[in-house]
Amino acid sequence: MITYNENTKIFKLDTKTTSYVLGLADDKYVGHVYYGKKLESTDLGYLLRLEEPPFVPSKNLREKVTFLDTCPMEYSFSGSGDFRESCITATTAEGQQGLDLTYVSHRIYTGKEALDSLPATWGADGETLEITMEDEPTGIRVLLSYSVFADSDAVIRSVKVINGGKEAVYLDRVMSACLDMDNENYDVLSLHGSWARERHMERQSLGYGSCVTESLRGESSHQDHPFLALLTKNCTQAEGEVYAMNFVYSGNFLAKAQRCQHDTVRMVMGIHPENFRWKLEAGESFQAPEVVCVYSDEGLGKMSRTFHDLYRNHLIRGKYKDQIRPVLVNSWEAAYFDFDTEQLLALAKQAAELGIEMLVMDDGWFGQRNSDEGSLGDWTVNEEKLKGGLKYLVDEVNALGMKFGIWFEPEMISPDSDLYRAHPDWALQLKGRTGSMARAQYVLDLSRPEMVDYVYESLCAVLRSANIEYVKWDMNRPLTDIGSTYLPADRQGELSHRYMLAVYELQERLTRDFPDLLLENCSSGGARFDPGMLYYSPQIWCSDDTDAIERLAIQEGTQLLYPLSTIGAHVSDCPNHTVGRVTPFETRGIVAMAGTFGYELDPRKIPAEDREKIPGQIEDYKKYAPLIQKGDYYRISSYQDNHLFDCYEIVSKDKSEAVVFFIQVLNEPNYRSRKIRLQGLEEKATYLIDGKSYSGEALMSAGLILQRLQGDFQAQIIEVRLKS
Ligand code: GLA
Repeated sequence: MITYNENTKIFKLDTKTTSYVLGLADDKYVGHVYYGKKLESTDLGYLLRLEEPPFVPSKNLREKVTFLDTCPMEYSFSGSGDFRESCITATTAEGQQGLDLTYVSHRIYTGKEALDSLPATWGADGETLEITMEDEPTGIRVLLSYSVFADSDAVIRSVKVINGGKEAVYLDRVMSACLDMDNENYDVLSLHGSWARERHMERQSLGYGSCVTESLRGESSHQDHPFLALLTKNCTQAEGEVYAMNFVYSGNFLAKAQRCQHDTVRMVMGIHPENFRWKLEAGESFQAPEVVCVYSDEGLGKMSRTFHDLYRNHLIRGKYKDQIRPVLVNSWEAAYFDFDTEQLLALAKQAAELGIEMLVMDDGWFGQRNSDEGSLGDWTVNEEKLKGGLKYLVDEVNALGMKFGIWFEPEMISPDSDLYRAHPDWALQLKGRTGSMARAQYVLDLSRPEMVDYVYESLCAVLRSANIEYVKWDMNRPLTDIGSTYLPADRQGELSHRYMLAVYELQERLTRDFPDLLLENCSSGGARFDPGMLYYSPQIWCSDDTDAIERLAIQEGTQLLYPLSTIGAHVSDCPNHTVGRVTPFETRGIVAMAGTFGYELDPRKIPAEDREKIPGQIEDYKKYAPLIQKGDYYRISSYQDNHLFDCYEIVSKDKSEAVVFFIQVLNEPNYRSRKIRLQGLEEKATYLIDGKSYSGEALMSAGLILQRLQGDFQAQIIEVRLKS
């Protein structure tokens, strides 16, 4: 619910358990008042500290500079006295910068309007506050938008900039959200990694100065993640306060927490200003992507569950949103580039007999693609490999009772391709320089409008040629050589963002024209696992690292924000292709069940005793999938912290059942059985585990004693059911 108090000039957004409050300072500036636990009172204007005497004896009670540098702002701007991190920088026709944004008007409306050309949360049960501010001399207007949904604890923010002046201006920086608070001795939590090591959690103290996480790779990236949270020192999974931001965007981003001179903290998030310059003609507007803000006073666990519910109910769309996804087998680790129709059909036949529901033909089916050296862009079937063509293969796979899926990397162009030979100017490039190659490929300049149509038509031609029910959309290198032979000189700074808008347009068209298609995004593993992509694809490939043990940290960091139903997780063969580790087949299955389950192997080539376990594994997955898809996630223990075991639990919304995943990474000699405290159950209810009765209260406060497991890399699933 959103209210405005005309007398106090206070806006209040209430979610189920939180309040977000802002107000007008001196009837002029839009100041931040409060964000935290839900408050009944609206009498909160005192928090803007306008009555506070100046810090140093002075006759001048409110010098603008001192005031602007201390006032908690909802959207900061530089050049007129706020020296903390600025949200917006605009350069005028005179080449000058500096703004003074003051309140003009506001509106509160039911629902939430879609964002122009961008992924965004949606829902008719929403309410939105839109505040308009203006910089009078330039006519630049900034519209701050805040939305809440009846069933969610998140506050969603976005920003639109309108050039209401008479001349073009250049936007050099447009952040999407800003949060000013008093410092509470916060820690900063962020996610970091690398290829095959995505989203490891990192927690550090916030000292004076800034703590930054960012990507300039043209993708949300393996290395950093568009997420930042401030945590009170006592914050654990179940206790303490968290202020989190997650960016609904898949390109360059900047997230910064800044601790300032008077022990205030400013947190900002938005498109990275480096390499960004957007020309805004008179009358035009620029829409910045949205940021999801979550406050939790019950630790990280409640934060995770708030993100999960929001993304499941208000971000993911399409037919598969609430459906259990088909169990797939992917040809990548099974065969890499070395396959033909006969082999794929033999693999599919074996897979179908074991209960696998879909065959995904990964990289290597088009052009002359027998290695990663060429052919990207030539999206025509290689009939030397696929004798009889694609339709024949798909029909045969369908005849086995399986669905068929295919891999594309639509944004790329190999120098060794017919496409590049015909259109060398279609790659991103800097004048007079040789392009930087990564994985032997260049990136297409998607800022060219004809490029989007070309890519789309190439995809459609393949998809229409056979009964293809799934697409894995890959993107295997970062953006470099950020130059376009199409854009004029004064719009080159728009390239990275225009590129993202084109990717979004392509995926929007694809999901609109093929509503039954299951789309899975992927970027060299998990370099584009972000809320922007989730708007188009209900699942994303989490990491190229399929080792069950490496996956624990990767999946923990991913589960911190994203529902388990979105996390592509597969069982692969051993020794693992990335780390060479050997783990039991059961453990690989149990770890992969905390996601959208599948196989990344050739079932004909694995040991018979592993193969025989596949039907049982699929049966287990199907049994738990509804709970995993819709339930509440609780992290019980982390291998990252204890270096021995990992444990997480999913509880049904009505608390009638739960499933606990326990993975013992290393065994210890001579130790007592492990005791774990469950979470999220009904205290007064009685639950059954392995035929024994326990009270919910005992399971949560005292704990459950687990059977001891012999050996390293062991795993077990514990079922918890309400006693009827
Ligand atoms: C990326 C993906 C893999 C596979 C290969 C194919 O690395 O993450 O799963 O599709 O590309 O080249």
